[in-house]
Amino acid sequence: MQLDFQHDVSELAVMRRSVRTFQPRDVDAQALDACMVPLTSETALFGAETRYTAVHVKQTPIKLGTYGMVHGAKTFLTAVTSKKDLRAGFLQIGYQMEQAVLLATDCGLGACWLGGTFDKTAFWQASGTGDGEQLVIVLPIGYPGGKMRLLEHIVRGAAGSANRKPFEKLFFNAENGTPLSEQAAGAFSVPLSCVRLAPSAVNKQPWRLLLSQTSVAFYLDRGKEQANAAESDIRYVDLGIAMCHFEAGALQAGLSGSWDFQNPGFSAPASYEFIAAWKLSQNKS
Ligand SMILES: Cc1cc2nc3c(=O)[nH]c(=O)nc-3n(C[C@H](O)[C@H](O)[C@H](O)COP(=O)(O)O)c2cc1C
Repeated sequence: MQLDFQHDVSELAVMRRSVRTFQPRDVDAQALDACMVPLTSETALFGAETRYTAVHVKQTPIKLGTYGMVHGAKTFLTAVTSKKDLRAGFLQIGYQMEQAVLLATDCGLGACWLGGTFDKTAFWQASGTGDGEQLVIVLPIGYPGGKMRLLEHIVRGAAGSANRKPFEKLFFNAENGTPLSEQAAGAFSVPLSCVRLAPSAVNKQPWRLLLSQTSVAFYLDRGKEQANAAESDIRYVDLGIAMCHFEAGALQAGLSGSWDFQNPGFSAPASYEFIAAWKLSQNKS
């Protein structure tokens, strides 16, 4: 991932919030194209077949409903994955589409991830979702409206959207499992802060990270659930988003590394499902 931002990624992570009320005007076509640059096969980190479409309200005869959640949006990005590997598709959509969201934030646009509150039939049709595909996410994108509506306040309040879990509940030392404070995170404090501020479905923040000297392992915490997460668990999208924030934050912090899907075998709680590890590049000098 190499994205050109005007702001620091750590600033973008703070600036970004879910925008559900938009000014009723079209998004500048060039700005939209720039946001969609990361939505290509080049960033297909998980090897899944994902596909993205910009759906413009005025060019679509279908009513694109969001149960009143979104107001004034003129454009929606839709994210579709092949059903061949839903888990990889969900992770990849999170990873790729959050790059688009950060680019949008950088140029003054707002957006909101929608995994549930959209009219499935209308958006399946508008995105041309085929039999072997699943529509995963709908993302309204546009210029933020001035004032939040009452419904938006209620939704944000119910999900506790303004809050995040403390560092110590999300990030741990891989050697002994002790919680990691922001101070103790050292060089990793920027990328970890970016992960902490990432959006997640119903603000569940299901990501847990174990850090060693040379790698950072990402897990989905299933909590008290017994079974493995379903292939189409929306929390895989959350994990992809967290990986995007981490990598962008690491680049800002001057850390170089790469993703590895081999489980490093850290001793992790039984409720943790391994997703990927970010390996710090060895200094060649
Ligand atoms: C994968 C995913 C799915 C989401 N689905 C919905 C949704 O269906 N409806 C909605 O209003 N917000 C949805 N959200 C937005 C979250 O509620 C929001 O990101 C979270 O509460 C944190 O708030 P913030 O984005 O303002 O920081 C979703 C977010 C993510 C990451």
